[in-house]
Amino acid sequence: MTRTANISRQKTTGAHYTPPLLGRFVARRILSNLDVGRAEKLRVLDPACGAGALLEAFESAARDEGRVSCEYVGVEADLNALEEARLRLGGTAGDHLALLQGDFLEMAGPNQGMADLWGSTQQMADLTESFDVVIANPPYVRTQVLGAAEARRLAERFNLSGRVDLYQAFLVAATTSLRLGGIMGIIVSNRFLSTVTGASVRRYLANHYDLCEVIDLGDTKLFEAAVLPAVIVGRRKKPAQVRVSQSPTRFMRVYSVPAASVESDAPAQSGGIYDVLEQGRNGVYRVPEGIYRVSTGTLDTARDTGRVWSLTTPHETQWVQQVRSRSAGCFGDLAQIRVGIKTTADSVFIRSDWESLPEAARPEYSLLLPSLSHEDARRWARKEGDLPSARVLYPHEMRDGRRTAIDLACFPGAKDYLESHQARLRDRRYVAESGRKWYEIWVPQDPSGWAGPKVVFPDISPEPCFFLDRSGSIVNGNCYWMTLRPGVSDELLYLLLGLANSRLMTRFHDLAFGNKLYAGRRRYITQYVGKYPYPDPSARPARELVATVKELVESCERGPAETPLSHVESRIERLSQECFGLEPDSGELTP
Ligand SMILES: C[S@@+](CC[C@H](N)C(=O)[O-])C[C@H]1O[C@@H](n2cnc3c(N)ncnc32)[C@H](O)[C@@H]1O
Repeated sequence: MTRTANISRQKTTGAHYTPPLLGRFVARRILSNLDVGRAEKLRVLDPACGAGALLEAFESAARDEGRVSCEYVGVEADLNALEEARLRLGGTAGDHLALLQGDFLEMAGPNQGMADLWGSTQQMADLTESFDVVIANPPYVRTQVLGAAEARRLAERFNLSGRVDLYQAFLVAATTSLRLGGIMGIIVSNRFLSTVTGASVRRYLANHYDLCEVIDLGDTKLFEAAVLPAVIVGRRKKPAQVRVSQSPTRFMRVYSVPAASVESDAPAQSGGIYDVLEQGRNGVYRVPEGIYRVSTGTLDTARDTGRVWSLTTPHETQWVQQVRSRSAGCFGDLAQIRVGIKTTADSVFIRSDWESLPEAARPEYSLLLPSLSHEDARRWARKEGDLPSARVLYPHEMRDGRRTAIDLACFPGAKDYLESHQARLRDRRYVAESGRKWYEIWVPQDPSGWAGPKVVFPDISPEPCFFLDRSGSIVNGNCYWMTLRPGVSDELLYLLLGLANSRLMTRFHDLAFGNKLYAGRRRYITQYVGKYPYPDPSARPARELVATVKELVESCERGPAETPLSHVESRIERLSQECFGLEPDSGELTP
């Protein structure tokens, strides 16, 4: 299979196989929470077993514990994968193995048992409430890929709400295969922990399980899927029954530490990341796979509050509370924060080569506005006069205080150009359906806002990259921009800029929103940045911060920095900490 075909197959079937060490880790977490004696028979199900990685890991971990009396059932839609599983497991799980080909979502539920492909007994293949253990890494396939009709069908069948993903259906179906008191150990995307849309999954888990452990493996890259994984281990209980277990839900959060950070001086550990995870102790660890910060604590999952599950230690919670308690408000009170323009046909509207078009088919220069995008972002400020190379054909103007589409008759160059791309532009049917002209930009934004000073930032980046722009450029849809609300003093834009780029705010971002993306990137969007706290602007540290940032911005605008950037940034860091009453350089500001 070619790489592209493989990737697209992975997208539609969610087939990312679990690496053996991660499989073993999940198996051991399940075993350590199990209440079945070692000599007793154990029935284990993987409802989407692929090539058998998880069943193999469980078999090996159980054998190491002296459990030899286990029955394994694997279900898989893909016959080739199942054949691989048979070859892999046949030798070890042997007579105690049933591998079933089919759609688990159709097979699960009352009286749906079926015969094993390779002749095991009907009884072994009974999928109803008969398992002591479910171990799973179910397919993760989003609504967009599933298609609306399939998503609706799954939502009805499994009583799902919100944005449906295939893994949610598996979670519900696999629960019906688990006996009360049985343990589920499942690898899922960590998104549901921290997103509003994850509320239905959190509610389902809290209602049907006494959750033993929630482990957010964050950006550790321990798993090659496009999502960041979490491992959930829970004991099935009757729906809505109060928590049976006396012990609270334990959580562990593991994130990589940037090599440049002060924490990267952590001493090297013997063993690898999984040994560290097994120990489950707070700290920063340097292991062959990288440098990681491990945070542990307990999580209140018993009450269904609808709130996100914030995996923060008491110490971290206290830190966030302190920052909040010293704030005068949040960024959203002082500034309007918006996403840049979205043309939905960038190659037509945004180009760096307008000059190369024949003059007759070239839009009028007055319509071609400099367009700031991700690649143009420079922390703090761009050099003055350094306009972005791309320009956007902006087919809107203000008339009588209202934004309207330009009249093409007045712009023959733009008319010619746009008409030459008419088919592509008209293809955006939603533009016409919303009563707009075919050549309009989908999200045009407010041109008067661009003229004044604004803080611009890329929507996704590993570190904050906020910068002041005074060039009047338009902001592209892969960036956000922030302008002060009417009546707010101009100086405060420097205060917000300094804080937004500080490590203090990065830490706040991580702890308060817990939403890191793959490869250590963060999402900077209105929903988060609007909630950043700011301190009393009239207090000394805030005033000094304004002056320092202003000087830094002006120096960046003049050209290469006169004072080393790191020097000024340390000062900004110290002042930011002081603003919130934190001890300067208390070591509290590590990400
Ligand atoms: C993420 S992979 C995990 C495989 C294996 N458990 C592992 O951890 O390596 C998910 C598997 O689910 C299978 N699958 C997708 N839809 C399925 C369905 N409706 N019924 C059974 N298996 C399905 C895919 O073919 C894929 O092998």
